[in-house]
Amino acid sequence: AVPVVVAIDGPAGSGKSSVSRAAARALGYAYLDTGASYRALAWNLLDTQVDPADPDAVIASLTDFDFAIGTDPEAYFVRVGSSDVTEAIREPRVTGAVSAVARIPEVRAWLTERFRSIMRDTEFDGIVAEGRDITTVVAPDAPVRILLTADEDARMARRSKELTGESAAAVGEALRTRDRADSRVVDFMNAAEGVTTVDSTHLDFDETVAAVVDVVHDQA
Ligand code: C5P
Repeated sequence: AVPVVVAIDGPAGSGKSSVSRAAARALGYAYLDTGASYRALAWNLLDTQVDPADPDAVIASLTDFDFAIGTDPEAYFVRVGSSDVTEAIREPRVTGAVSAVARIPEVRAWLTERFRSIMRDTEFDGIVAEGRDITTVVAPDAPVRILLTADEDARMARRSKELTGESAAAVGEALRTRDRADSRVVDFMNAAEGVTTVDSTHLDFDETVAAVVDVVHDQA
């Protein structure tokens, strides 16, 4: 059977990744973290000393970019070559480099192809794919499409809880800067036609997961 694709987009700090992974687990579906793939590429550029702001060099690096991402929600990992980069891709230096990489059209096209083949080939009954352009570009025909939002204050509060050791102001500023850069490339602040908005501002984690699972049960 063709796997059910659940497409979820949203801004940084919306809780997208953890909510999507928990929803995948509850549904018995696979989980695809597309942001982690952009981060893996940014990590690789820093590791091999390629300038993320040099599009030609970034595009050339794709030929040797060997990355793997775990899509079993119980066994999540990100690897580049033989390095496990699951933790390293969350470092601020990677977060700071990723938007420059993500605005290169050839990079988006290359990763989008990978995402589509991962979605097509999954052995699970379905896959929850999460990012910024899944509902609009990667899987616009998905039977379930969700925009996961939260007020900026709520998103900043959640993100600063995740990143210990940094000041709330610095976290908020970094998040706003990244969202601004990313929204120039794809619109993940407004729901495209046919996309269901789940606003988690006043929901706790479990309630947000339940809201997403409800949308899947209604629409799949
Ligand atoms: O979701 P996460 O914060 O890990 O995403 C990291 C970065 O990857 C984003 O800031 C954005 O630049 C890029 N991204 C993207 N398209 C996606 C997912 C992520 O451009 N579908």
